[in-house]
Amino acid sequence: MTGTSSIELPTTFALGGTDECTIRAMREDDASELCTLLPKMHAESQWLNYMPGEFDKDEQWERNFIHEQQTKHASILLVAEAKGAIVAIAGAGSPEFKRYAHHAELGLSILKDFWGKGLGRKLMNLLIEWGRTCNLHKMYLKVFDGNERAIGLYRSMGFNVEARLKDDFAKNDGNYGDTLIMSFYYK
Ligand SMILES: CC(C)(COP(=O)(O)OP(=O)(O)OC[C@H]1O[C@@H](n2cnc3c(N)ncnc32)[C@H](O)[C@@H]1OP(=O)(O)O)[C@@H](O)C(=O)NCCC(=O)NCCS
Repeated sequence: MTGTSSIELPTTFALGGTDECTIRAMREDDASELCTLLPKMHAESQWLNYMPGEFDKDEQWERNFIHEQQTKHASILLVAEAKGAIVAIAGAGSPEFKRYAHHAELGLSILKDFWGKGLGRKLMNLLIEWGRTCNLHKMYLKVFDGNERAIGLYRSMGFNVEARLKDDFAKNDGNYGDTLIMSFYYK
């Protein structure tokens, strides 16, 4: 199943009780805004794959990426908008192989000004719901050991640590850190 047709979108709600926020499907014409937003996220958080300043993709690359994801057999890309701008991205996708089609990997990132307001939980709930409508057996994610906010959120939503990849990623200071694989099983 491709895209977001299986879940109710867009959805609008009061974020942290104040700001109005809308979560909708990502579109190819978000590419330009994302090229500005993503480097900002990488500079704000040490817990993302890209190091600060590393992201060098242009609008066309981003457009192609969004288009490819939209045409994959099981994938979803979301954005959250508040105050007229994109403030978060989230997505999930299954590998192309039939042997792995029963699970999907998810990821999400939120601008710092919008942390701790319940947006991560909203996005996770939508991704989990999407997986349910795709009849997935499980969802999983990778998180850097030490990212307590993210790990706390995932645990509270029923994800458990299944594996630890030792010295898997380089921290901003050059030391190595472990990556945790956390999974959620549909009943
Ligand atoms: C991690 C991230 C997605 C969480 O989203 P968020 O909107 O800030 O989190 P929410 O407000 O929805 O959820 C908060 C939940 O996380 C947990 N949490 C929050 N801060 C925590 C902390 N310091 N320690 C442990 N758990 C924490 C709690 O379970 C909390 O739920 P509660 O408020 O009901 O008690 C977001 O902060 C973010 O994008 N961070 C930077 C990039 C990143 O780390 N992405 C994830 C990579 S795997």
